[in-house]
Amino acid sequence: MSAFDIRSDFNRQLNQELRNAYLYFSMSAFFDRLSLTGFAHFFRAQAKEELGHALKFYEFIVDRGWKVQLQEIPEPKTEWGSALEAVQDFLKAEEENTKRIWQMVDLARQVGDKAAESFLRWFVDEQVEEEKTASWLLARLELVRDQPAGLLALDRELSERK
Ligand code: FEO
Repeated sequence: MSAFDIRSDFNRQLNQELRNAYLYFSMSAFFDRLSLTGFAHFFRAQAKEELGHALKFYEFIVDRGWKVQLQEIPEPKTEWGSALEAVQDFLKAEEENTKRIWQMVDLARQVGDKAAESFLRWFVDEQVEEEKTASWLLARLELVRDQPAGLLALDRELSERK
């Protein structure tokens, strides 16, 4: 492992945050099609958060004097069998993101890049929040299942996300 690997890892993660933004915009559109506008609002806010994460990686790469290498973003999934399936994908995406961030911390330590390690600390903490939010939403949906009244109440609750 070398300093070169960490640069490509940061660029890969920049792309990954944008991919997650794409996925959540796509989920938002899916929920709008179902007229679950609270869910749609929640995922639009989540997508914007991912754009903010991407920007943090972008700025760190620039600040370090490394080369920003924007990579292709594949088309995200657009349909799910149910709200529950979409939210399961949300949790999976966040769990995978946590793994990637932790691997980056390991690499930063291995190559002795203290600045990268310090930068990544914010993301380690953020991922705890992200997984907590996704797990909460999944648990609520599992309680509600297909009961329309419960689903609409949860939808109203989600419409209040800042
Ligand atoms: Fe950028 Fe949801 O982690």
